[in-house]
Amino acid sequence: MNKPSYEEILNIQKKINIVDIVRDYVPLVQKGKNYFGICPFHDDHNPSMSVSNEKQMYKCFVCGAAGNVFNFVKDYNKISYYEAVQEVANKVGINIKIDKNLKTQENKFQKQYDIYDISNKFYQNNLNTNLGKIARSYLKDRLINEEIIKHFEIGLSFNDNNLTKLLKNKGFDDDLLVKSGICVKNNNSIYDIYRDRIMFPLWDINGKTIGFSGRIYEGNDSSKYINTMETDIFKKGSLLYNYHNAREFVLKENKLIIVEGFMDVIRLYSIGVYNVVASMGTAITKEQISLIRKITNNVVLMFDGDSAGEKATNSFIEVSKDVDFDISVVRLEEDLDPDDYIIKKGKEKMIYHLNNAKSLIDYKLNKEKKNLDINNGEEVSRFINKIAPSLSKINDDIALEVEINKLAKMIGLSVDLIKSRIKKDVQINKKSDRIVIRPTRKGENKYNKASKLILFNMIRHNNLILYYYNNLCYLPDEIDRNLANEIVLFYKKYESFNINDFIVYLEDKNNLINRLVEIDELNYSENYTMEEIDSYFKTIKEYSNKNQIEELKKKLKNETNDVVRKELAKKIEVLIKECK
Ligand code: UTP
Ligand code: MN
Repeated sequence: MNKPSYEEILNIQKKINIVDIVRDYVPLVQKGKNYFGICPFHDDHNPSMSVSNEKQMYKCFVCGAAGNVFNFVKDYNKISYYEAVQEVANKVGINIKIDKNLKTQENKFQKQYDIYDISNKFYQNNLNTNLGKIARSYLKDRLINEEIIKHFEIGLSFNDNNLTKLLKNKGFDDDLLVKSGICVKNNNSIYDIYRDRIMFPLWDINGKTIGFSGRIYEGNDSSKYINTMETDIFKKGSLLYNYHNAREFVLKENKLIIVEGFMDVIRLYSIGVYNVVASMGTAITKEQISLIRKITNNVVLMFDGDSAGEKATNSFIEVSKDVDFDISVVRLEEDLDPDDYIIKKGKEKMIYHLNNAKSLIDYKLNKEKKNLDINNGEEVSRFINKIAPSLSKINDDIALEVEINKLAKMIGLSVDLIKSRIKKDVQINKKSDRIVIRPTRKGENKYNKASKLILFNMIRHNNLILYYYNNLCYLPDEIDRNLANEIVLFYKKYESFNINDFIVYLEDKNNLINRLVEIDELNYSENYTMEEIDSYFKTIKEYSNKNQIEELKKKLKNETNDVVRKELAKKIEVLIKECK
């Protein structure tokens, strides 16, 4: 099949439920008729996106992103529209194959992605050659088997320039190869950057390779890991290692484990723990917090057992303090990282740790009480102030009661006293509890409003579609105008109109779809009279006349030919009359 037709796509849509599909990407909670989740299309921390079972559409109240299941899958995965159709179809067991040239969405970084893909395959192949023997035995010593190597696409770079040669033969130009961080240029010659390293590809959140980290493995005493330099598509602070693999497991278990290094991710994978990502050794960023919040609010911090790991733990807690995370903490003994811990103490002990992660309060209590003198009133007061915000974050009444009791016992104060101290924080917290603010629409004037009212009525009362076409056929706002044109075309072709089918027809015209859904949800009256419709048309005509008059006046001003001047003046006169 080359390109699925409108009818075929409609058929696929009828067989699926958008809620089931979106759920594979974003956790959803049902509230009334609709489902809500964190919007993946803007930096969202509260569930602003609703998914409607009834309408088979999603819509974000904050950023305005809207559409049907195909639009969602397309934008989430950053793939082409037909690829999204194919993916959705496959999920419900419908096999469609689309033409290759419908797949490649025009992407300005496509060449760079291609370079990483080729390099990735090249490195993986190296590892299987004779010369890869030492690296293979290094991996074997680290208990990394064939399956793991395959899954994490581990490869090897040699001390030669064969990758550069290959890429040049494939026609990539030097500048791009250098810009991609795969090659380096010196005196007009171009060389491989990575030499004699075990190569770990780094992926973006959709699983595209966007760089590498190369680890030394024998007699090489330079830095342990070398990462690809930051490029337009690779920013260390905006990705988490293994995010795309972990996602489905995080959604299933509603829990994400965060570790520091990729060896930790890999080792946990080997014992069957898949909902893990790595921060890659740098301080966690707000952007990474957002990525995490999009798939869960339940995080387990398991950074290295050393003091750097403790620092990373505290820093994560600090950076995410305004996010409604349920954080728990694992601190491993003997300064071990999760990888070493599993090797040294075994799988069972690791699982035990994960199942008994400390609540954030317990972690803080533990940490603070070490240097707390419970006989010093001021110190105790300060201590409670520090703990109170975390207590107030606990939503479960029973859990809160347990924590308060623990705290009371520990510092020898009454439960009531602690409760009254945290009450303030609890109230503040409740108050700020998700208020969804609809953005006020910019540039709302009477022409704009008339335009929206016309569209609002056209999509409800289909007789008005041709009425618009015959009597007005023009809207000042470009998106509104294009939308109206498409509605007319659709109606003429299919002789009926409904919003779901129309969105399928619009395919990936996001700006039109977003506008359509926005207008459909406006709070206007469902009834209309022809007088009202005519008055909206009149408003639009007035606007377009006004604009034409302005333009004609400008022309008149610069015109020297008397005959032309007279003509212009006459036209202006007619337009002014029409306005009245
Ligand atoms: P670690 O030093 O803890 O590495 O750094 P590791 O995961 O235990 O690796 P092994 O077991 O020695 O092989 C944690 C993370 O910090 C980043 C890497 O992403 C690493 O996984 N890192 C570390 C670098 O980027 N460069 C370095 O030189 C070291
Ligand atoms: Mn390690």
